[in-house]
Amino acid sequence: MPAVWTPDSWRQKPIVQVPEYRDAAALEEVERNLRNFPPLVFIREVVELKESLAGVARGESFLLQGGDCAESFREHKTDYIRDYFQLFLQMALVLTFRGNTQVVKVGRVAGQFAKPRSSPVEKQGGKELPSYRGDIINGPEFTEEARIPDPRRQLQAYRQSAATLNFLRALIDGGYASLDNAHRWELNFMEGSPVEARYRELADEIRRTVEINRLLGITAENSLEMRSTRFYTSHEALLLSYEQALARKDEAMGSGQWVATSGHFIWIGDRTRQPDGAHVEFCRGVVNPIGLKCGPSLDPDELLRLIDILNPANEAGRLTLIARFGAGKIAKHLPALIRKVKAAGRTVVWQCDPMHGNTITAGTGYKTRPFEDVVSEVEQFFTIHRAEGTHPGGVHLEMTGQNVTECTGGAAQISEADLARQYDTGCDPRLNAAQSLEIAFRLAEKLKG
Ligand code: PEP
Ligand code: CO
Repeated sequence: MPAVWTPDSWRQKPIVQVPEYRDAAALEEVERNLRNFPPLVFIREVVELKESLAGVARGESFLLQGGDCAESFREHKTDYIRDYFQLFLQMALVLTFRGNTQVVKVGRVAGQFAKPRSSPVEKQGGKELPSYRGDIINGPEFTEEARIPDPRRQLQAYRQSAATLNFLRALIDGGYASLDNAHRWELNFMEGSPVEARYRELADEIRRTVEINRLLGITAENSLEMRSTRFYTSHEALLLSYEQALARKDEAMGSGQWVATSGHFIWIGDRTRQPDGAHVEFCRGVVNPIGLKCGPSLDPDELLRLIDILNPANEAGRLTLIARFGAGKIAKHLPALIRKVKAAGRTVVWQCDPMHGNTITAGTGYKTRPFEDVVSEVEQFFTIHRAEGTHPGGVHLEMTGQNVTECTGGAAQISEADLARQYDTGCDPRLNAAQSLEIAFRLAEKLKG
């Protein structure tokens, strides 16, 4: 019998990857504020997403999840959010029209601010400072001052999340995501790239579909499916004091369940998934769909133990296992995990994060990810699942709608020497817009095959 869960029961457990705040009074004040702020998401939406993910677990649809490695205060801009959302919708259309699948859309957005780090310190030149842990915790500038964890940053992260989510909801309600608007989405980020021609061809097909639907009497005006879409938010539940302050007991729907209202979907990182640790403890008690990162150090028995803790009722859609091994390691690790889960009769969504196991440091010193390694891990993910008779349920990408040069390769053939041109990320290298769309086409081919 597990001990009783409360929103603060994680405080009795060992914890890693958290900041040490110096000003306890300021932290308390922030938490008091957050506890009174409106929730960012509503239980009904969370439950609806879980039902959609149950469909993915049954093999009926595909989960597309993606966004920044870390959202930043500095890059909180209208264009930035809109470009990202447009790219996301375009990728989903590619998967639907070319991959013949329904897509569950989950952004890494409106709350993705806290970062686990491999090293607690960062060295530059002869100087050593505490690592940057995401804008919700400290600042990216390499100064003593900036790296001091400041609890007040949580308020800014909350407000930025609220504003971002509000804009996304407004775009959706206002018809931006409507199928009959899709041909207006611009492609200036990939002028002349081979993927542009492929997308234009698809856009023509979408226009034709809209036209035929209109002839059948189905229009954006009379059909919610034509006019709108469902889009959900997600982030890593790393900063537990923030998560706790935004946890709410549902009364509106009468369930009495606890909801993490910081976002629809939260996940546990590869560095914080200790079965007896604080992060697993917090996540087990909220009703949201939960993700669990699965890296090379996770053994099959431990995975089963984690599944027992996080999804004891074996509820479909509750748990997404996010495999992130690297192109060179997935074939060694993933099959054993799949077999264990299958033999135990557990229902999960299997998702591939082809980013976090494929990070290398270029000769020029930049952290990067070769596009071909990213594609290779995804393709192996599909091949392995097909061999095991399980559903390759989704992908989890770090991507941006901007034309950055952070990952090498792709149709634009970004080289290591090109990385310096527009390397904007505060944390991990992201796929740029053209590379993301290219991945979507490659995925669609796999889904169809
Ligand atoms: C991440 O998703 O940004 C991340 C840090 O992943 P992981 O926990 O898998 O390393
Ligand atoms: Co990352």
